[in-house]
Amino acid sequence: MNNISSRDLHTDRLDLRLPSMGEQHRLWEILCLEEVNNLYFPTPDRIFRKYELSKDNINDLKEARKIFLTQLNNWERQGPFYKAKVESVKNQEDSSKFTWSVFLKDTDIVIGQVTCQPKDNEPGDIRDVGWYIDPIYQGKGYATEAATAMLDFMFNEVEISKIETSAADYNCNSWKIMEKLGFKYTGNYISTYYMDDKILECKKYFGTRELFNNRSSKRR
Ligand SMILES: CC(C)(COP(=O)(O)OP(=O)(O)OC[C@H]1O[C@@H](n2cnc3c(N)ncnc32)[C@H](O)[C@@H]1OP(=O)(O)O)[C@@H](O)C(=O)NCCC(=O)NCCS
Repeated sequence: MNNISSRDLHTDRLDLRLPSMGEQHRLWEILCLEEVNNLYFPTPDRIFRKYELSKDNINDLKEARKIFLTQLNNWERQGPFYKAKVESVKNQEDSSKFTWSVFLKDTDIVIGQVTCQPKDNEPGDIRDVGWYIDPIYQGKGYATEAATAMLDFMFNEVEISKIETSAADYNCNSWKIMEKLGFKYTGNYISTYYMDDKILECKKYFGTRELFNNRSSKRR
C-alpha cells in the first residue's frame, strides 16, 4: 500500500472533492433522511452496549434505532464531529480514512458522499466502502460513477489489496453497484437493519484490484 495523500477526483459528470465545512450541513441533512440512513448507517454497537439492548430482538433494535436517530438528528451534537473530520482530512492526520464529497461537476451542488476506510479489526489495507446519494439525484448512475472513480484511485494509486463490504439484501441499488465494480458475493449474515418488523440479511462482497480492473461493466 502506498502512503499517498488523498486528492480531488473527476469524472464525466461529477467532482469528488476533499471534504470542507461548506457542504457538511447539507450532507448531514441528506444523511438524516430515513430512506438514506436506514440502509447506510447501522445502529452503532455503543448504543446496544450502553442501553443493554439485544441485536437479536426486533423491539430492542427499534429502541436502539430511536436513540441513535435522536442523536443523529441533532446538528448541535453532530456538527463538532463533522468539523473534526474535515480538519483531520485537511491536516492529513489520518491518511488511512479516505472521504470525498460528491458534487455535480463544476457546481456547488453536493449530492452525496463516498468513503473508503480501514475495516474494523482487520489490517489497514483491507478496507470497507460506503456511499450515499441524495434521493433527488438517485437512479442516474451517479453512485456507480463516483464509486468507480474512488476505487480506481484506491486500487491503482493507493494500492490497497482488498475491499470487504456488505449491503442489505433488500438494498439491491447498492449491491448491484458492488457487482458492477467486479466484486464477488461471498454469503449472507443477519444484520441490525430491519424493515416491517423483520430483521434483514446482508449480502457480503469482496473486491480486489484484479477483479476491479477486469470488471465486465468496463467493457460495455
Ligand atoms: C445505494 C445508492 C447510493 C445508489 O445511488 P444511485 O446514484 O441511485 O445509484 P446508481 O444510479 O449508480 O445505480 C442505481 C440504478 O440507477 C440506474 N441508472 C440510471 N442511469 C444510469 C447511468 N447513466 N449509469 C448507470 N446506472 C444508471 C440504473 O437502473 C441503476 O440500477 P441497475 O444496476 O439496475 O442498472 C442510493 O440508493 C442511496 O444513497 N441509498 C441509501 C444509502 C445506501 O443504501 N447506501 C449504501 C449502503 S450499503
